Amino acid sequence: MGFKINEHVKWVGNIDWDLRKFHGEEYSAHRGSSYNSYLVEDEKTALIDTVWSPFSEEFVQNLKEEIDLKKIDYIIINHGEVDHSGGLIALMKEIPGTPIYCTANAVKSIKGQYHQDWNFIKVKTGDTLSLGKRTLTFVEARMLHWPDSMMTYMDQENILFSNDAFGQHYASSGMYNDTVDQSELFQEAIKYYANILTPFSKLVEKKINELLELGIPVDMICPSHGVIWKKNPLQIVEQYMEWAKDYQENQITITYETMWENTRKMAEAIGEGIAQQDPAVKLKYINVGKTDKNDVLTEIFKSKGVLMGSSTINNGILSNTAGLLEMIKGLKFKRKAGAAFGSYGWSGESPKIINEGLDASGFQVMEKNYKALWTPDKESVEEGIAFGKDFINHINR
Ligand code: FEO
Repeated sequence: MGFKINEHVKWVGNIDWDLRKFHGEEYSAHRGSSYNSYLVEDEKTALIDTVWSPFSEEFVQNLKEEIDLKKIDYIIINHGEVDHSGGLIALMKEIPGTPIYCTANAVKSIKGQYHQDWNFIKVKTGDTLSLGKRTLTFVEARMLHWPDSMMTYMDQENILFSNDAFGQHYASSGMYNDTVDQSELFQEAIKYYANILTPFSKLVEKKINELLELGIPVDMICPSHGVIWKKNPLQIVEQYMEWAKDYQENQITITYETMWENTRKMAEAIGEGIAQQDPAVKLKYINVGKTDKNDVLTEIFKSKGVLMGSSTINNGILSNTAGLLEMIKGLKFKRKAGAAFGSYGWSGESPKIINEGLDASGFQVMEKNYKALWTPDKESVEEGIAFGKDFINHINR
């Protein structure tokens, strides 16, 4: 069921309480998500974004309870990804000729996915659409996070429909930022930024500056996932600016993957050295074989240094660590120090492989690594403690 945001705007999306994996299996959604669609009514009526395709029929049924579909004059698709354009499948059967306003790249992505020649109207930054007393202005946001992404600004109500930007995969009964648990909200917001937007941080910064320079009043930010930023809406914009500037906290994360606990013991020795050298640092130990990969990446995003350990297996590294390295490479983290460690029984390639992976991902890698033959003995533990201290010196150099 929809709800009224104000006299001219209604939320008409779907809440996906059951979602636990998004983007196939790539993104964990521990708290579900929502696909936010907005009905904007003035002398003319526009629908901004739709929902994910499995909800397409339900979306249209619900929409019919809000409005006679024939009264929808325009459809705005801010982004062609299926979680926002999927509702078009059922909707366009009902109102086939309705113009769809989107970027030229969105025409390509929507046609590529649905193979339909709907009535597309291409728009670019600065183009406007009058609804009567109120006007929608389009702002392209290329690569935030697809080439087709854009935002739509509604004057007089001063609402920015930001699509994915400023969103969270967070299903909640309270749909405003001030009616939900703040720690849950910001945990989901930072996870979303870390796992989806990090590679585009420079563009995030540029786009936000561009929006701020326009000097437009923003009373509300309505993203396409999660809650609406109604109370102090610019707080999430300020937060994005901070995250976009090669964010780091005073945190070091030690990730490890272990076959017979030896690499875990090494992780603990390193951590002891770090704690001795810099007691103020926030230290996180994460067994990547047992931890959700997106949660690991969120901790890495927050860290100024990452120590990654794996046992050696078949002349290589354990598979979850290999997967993590692949994801780190894609996310293009900046301003992070790295180092590698791992136990072995005979060949012992793992630290070298990890170092190469971290180096290829732009980490400032400490040349020295820490290896332990079989189970670390007292001498090896001392070596690990010294290694942890060296890592602090490496970060502070
Ligand atoms: Fe929420 Fe890029 O889709």
